[in-house]
Order: sequence, then structure tokens, then C-alpha cells
Amino acid sequence: MSAFAAVDIIRAKRDNEVLSNDAITWVLDAYVAGQVAEEQMSALLMAIVFRGLNEAELANWTDVMIASGERLDLSSLSRPTVDKHSTGGVGDKISLILAPLVAACGAAVPQLSGRGLGHTGGTLDKLEAIPGWRAVLTNREVLDQLESVGAVICAAGDGLAPADRKLYSLRDVTGTVESIPLISASIMSKKIAEGTGALLLDVKVGRGAFMKTRERASELARTMVALGEGHGVKTVAQLTAMDAPLGRAAGNGLEVTESVEVLTGGGPQDIIDLTLALAREMVALVGIDVDPAEKLADGSAYRVYRDMIAAQGGDPDAVMPVAAQREELVATRDGIVTSIDAFEVGVAAWRLGAGRARKEDAVSTAAGVLTLVREGDIVEQGQPLFELHADDEAHLALGREALRDAFVISDQAASPTPLLIERVAKS
Ligand code: URA
Repeated sequence: MSAFAAVDIIRAKRDNEVLSNDAITWVLDAYVAGQVAEEQMSALLMAIVFRGLNEAELANWTDVMIASGERLDLSSLSRPTVDKHSTGGVGDKISLILAPLVAACGAAVPQLSGRGLGHTGGTLDKLEAIPGWRAVLTNREVLDQLESVGAVICAAGDGLAPADRKLYSLRDVTGTVESIPLISASIMSKKIAEGTGALLLDVKVGRGAFMKTRERASELARTMVALGEGHGVKTVAQLTAMDAPLGRAAGNGLEVTESVEVLTGGGPQDIIDLTLALAREMVALVGIDVDPAEKLADGSAYRVYRDMIAAQGGDPDAVMPVAAQREELVATRDGIVTSIDAFEVGVAAWRLGAGRARKEDAVSTAAGVLTLVREGDIVEQGQPLFELHADDEAHLALGREALRDAFVISDQAASPTPLLIERVAKS
């Protein structure tokens, strides 16, 4: 007979008691093995949302999640490893540029990524817009590509932190995603199991992010940095603004096109600035003394991007498909654009067909939104603000509706939000 009963552990957390290591290990292992019922784990997760986990409980919870699966061993690589994880935003195609850029500086970037759900896009969905590109690789292929190309973006295999996969699906349908310890354990268990030596966390703050306030984002960042450092991964977090969409494009193929623009010397300034700021942090984390701006300007990052796409079966020269339905949304008055709401633009891109409501849904390659103005721009009545792209009229109508309240035009300019908000490192 087991030394524990799930109901006692639920009651203990409900009453704000500290859970022992043995209790946490038992309940997570038993849940993964199917011996703790979904309703019991749901109740425990909800108790954690309200009561939290202290430092020791969180470290233990994370350890058990890591131990539920395999750990990649990247120690045979000739280059130092550094990864980046973003907590998710709208128009966030930074990984597509950053991974090859940091590899061009001399590091190996093992970026195991996910697909999008709801209003935020997923890196794999964007890259899958490239004909032939393959998201699923074996561990051997990951290691070989890291050695030969220096960067790999692929799906996290089923073997990495399987406890998180089961817990995340449950949290998604029980209103228990928004918990700092549960988010931290979920993200960091996968990153630690992936085997990277260093990690930069891009913690998004604002209307289009999970964390709406700087205080909550800062606490999440500090918690994840402490977990990473506690597991021997050099970890730094950068809080960055997600009030307005990043760049112009939100939508899978549209974001690939914009990423290539940046890699070939053009593209929106906010994307260039954020990518370079994050790249500087990443090379510093692994002690490489190279200026990423030079590697972007001299075409080295673009060459690595092409190799990275080709190594996974993709055609780096493929032109992204053009949507069958396109329409502009225009300004209804003269004035200054004081707000473009990342959340509303993300929802519009999703409704246009770029995102999915359920994990098994397919996404459109061509659908999405181009935001044609920036906050602070002076516009005239009738000037196009957004370009909507959809595969059919029904999706176009949904996107049009979602974008209606996505912007504000005023007579007075608002003060601009800085892109980089706060840096969090080991204290
Ligand atoms: N991303 C994750 O991987 N896990 C969470 O809990 C939230 C965002």
C-alpha cells in the first residue's frame, strides 16, 4: 500500500501546508502513471494556484518533472550551447532570426519549440509554412545539426518532461495555467531536460502577453532564473514589451517573409533592435566576444538560416503563398495612432486562420495581419492601418470584426513604451 493518499496532499496544500519532497514525488509520479485521477490533480493544481509553492517545493516539483523523461546530453558538442525561450507574444518571430544569428557568432543554439495556441503564434507553425520543412527530428539529428550548422529549431520530442505534457493539457482546461510556480516549473523542466548550458528568457509583459503587469512578469522572471541557476544552467531574463505587436507581420508565412527581410538587411526596426539586444545577452552568457550586429550585416546569419532550413528539408528560397482574400482596414479620422493592441491583433490573426483553437486544428500558411502603422504615427482619414489576409471570405469577416477595436487614434500623442523593460539575473 502507498504511504500517501492524493486527497491528503490536496487538503494539505488547500490548508497552506508545505508539501514534503516525498509527497510531491509520489503525487506527480502516480499521476503520470495514471494512479492519481484527473479530478484529484485538478484540485491540487487549483490549490497551488491559490497557495503557491515555496522555493524548496518548486525545486522538487521541477526535479520530478525533469526526471519523468529523458535528458539530452549536448556535452559532446564543440561549441557552447545557449537557448532562448519567449513566454509568447504577437508577431514574435524573433527565434527565426536569433537562432541563426547567435550560431553565426559561434554558439550552438538548441531551440526546442512548440506550436501556437490561441492568440499567440508558435515558432513551429511559422517554419512549417516553408515547403518541405520538418519539425520532428531524432536526438541524433539534433546533435548532428548543432555540430554542422550551429542552430536547430524543432519540436520538443515526446521523451522530454512528459509529465509537463500531461499536466499542461489539464491546466489548459481547468483554469490553472496562470500560476507563477506552475508556469516556471513547466518552462524550466523542458529547458533543463533539453540540456542547454545557458538560457535567455524573454518574458513578455503587456496586453498581448500572459503576464499583464511588470510586477508579475518580474516575479516570474526571478523564479525561472533561480530554478535555472539551481540546476547549473546560466540563466538571464529580459522583460520586454508586448503591448503592441512586434514588427508588421502576424501570421505564419507572413512572419517567415519578415524574418528573411531582417536577415537580408531590411525589416522593421523593433525586430532588429530586440533581436540584437537578445543576441548580445546570449553571446555574453557563453563568453563569446563577437558583435551580433556585424554577423547580421555581413550576411553570416542569413547563410546559417539557409543551412538550418535546408538541413530540415525546407526550401529557403520558397516564396510564401499569397492569401486568396486581402483587404485593407483604413483610419476613420485624422490623428495620431496612440495604441495598437497586440492582443486584438493576435486574435484577428488567429480568426483569419493563422492560429488554432484546439491542438488538432490545422493552421493556414497565408493568413494573418500586416500592421502598416506604428504607435506614434500621424495618419489621415482613409489611410490603410492594417492589411488582412485570409483563405476565404468567412475568415476575412471574422478577422475584420476582431480588428475593429484594435487601435486608438487621438489628437494627443502618448508616451512611447520602451521595448526593453528590465533585466533579471542571479542575485
Ligand atoms: N509555456 C509553457 O511551456 N508552460 C506554461 O505553463 C506556460 C507557457
